[in-house]
Amino acid sequence: MSRFPETRLRRLRQSAPVRNLVRETSLEARQLVLPVFVREGLTEPAPIGSMPGVVQHSLDSLRRAATEAAEAGVGGVMLFGIPEVRDAEGSGADDPAGILNVATAAIAAEVGEALVVQTDLCLDEFTDHGHCGVLNADGAVDNDATLDRYRSMALAQARAGSQLLGLSGMMDGQTAAIREALDTEGFHHTLLLAYSAKYASAFYGPFREAVDSQLTGDRRTYQLDPGNRREGVREALFDVDEGADIVMVKPALGFLDVLREVRDAVDVPVWAYQVSGEYAMIEAAAGNGWIDRRSAVLESLVSIRRAGAEAVLTYWAAEAARWLR
Ligand code: PBG
Repeated sequence: MSRFPETRLRRLRQSAPVRNLVRETSLEARQLVLPVFVREGLTEPAPIGSMPGVVQHSLDSLRRAATEAAEAGVGGVMLFGIPEVRDAEGSGADDPAGILNVATAAIAAEVGEALVVQTDLCLDEFTDHGHCGVLNADGAVDNDATLDRYRSMALAQARAGSQLLGLSGMMDGQTAAIREALDTEGFHHTLLLAYSAKYASAFYGPFREAVDSQLTGDRRTYQLDPGNRREGVREALFDVDEGADIVMVKPALGFLDVLREVRDAVDVPVWAYQVSGEYAMIEAAAGNGWIDRRSAVLESLVSIRRAGAEAVLTYWAAEAARWLR
């Protein structure tokens, strides 16, 4: 019965209206989050060579970009700060006068009602050694000492007006530690996005340029080994247990299997981060005329949605949102 010629599968593909009606996966502006970089001391935005079209913002250009994103219908912006001065503890991260917190307050005032203002909660942009935590006497990342820094950062970001904290440091216990710190100070409404399955990926390369990373070596003692799927799911289950409101898989395209499995394993929203290297690859190929830029961007985003992400962090968020309108 369900056989050719009685059944013709191509019937469902015969025209754009039919295809539109039967498409399983939607892609909407509200499902996109724009990551943005703001650099202390800049008066003009500075281009990032490995991410054509993406800039390090000044406070003024950041305000404009956030407003444009809101007007395009984007669901949120995720702020990353690049301080002028770095030290071993990452002091700029929890300083209310630090660039990320100042920018957060400015953006929250500007667009805080139109979209969800989000901040990256990690020390790597603020430390002079470039690691996501503080180091012990042997030069190793000290998990529990880092949690104290994260608690303080979380409070600084919440006070500045961040509505959602992106926990990207991959320290054990960070979600529970931060939730407790926030609740103790009355920030019950502040959302926690746990970067649960965050892999030690070569595709973060351009991001390191974007934040002028000081890192030598790698993050393999805290980020996941790309060969591990079950471990990614296990991390997500831990984070849900610790109070994560949303969990994330990162990078996206190379880890769609993990994304699907996490989606099936947890009851909270699942997001994915289409990272800097994914952006750079498509831009480079499109720049050479080797692929069609717009189709490739939209196909990559719908694929990430299809694999199970309710929302996607993507550097194309504002542009894609305008295409989707
Ligand atoms: C850590 C952080 C990184 C990214 C987002 N948050 C870098 C890293 O873990 O090395 C990478 C994002 C991207 O590549 O687009 N604060």
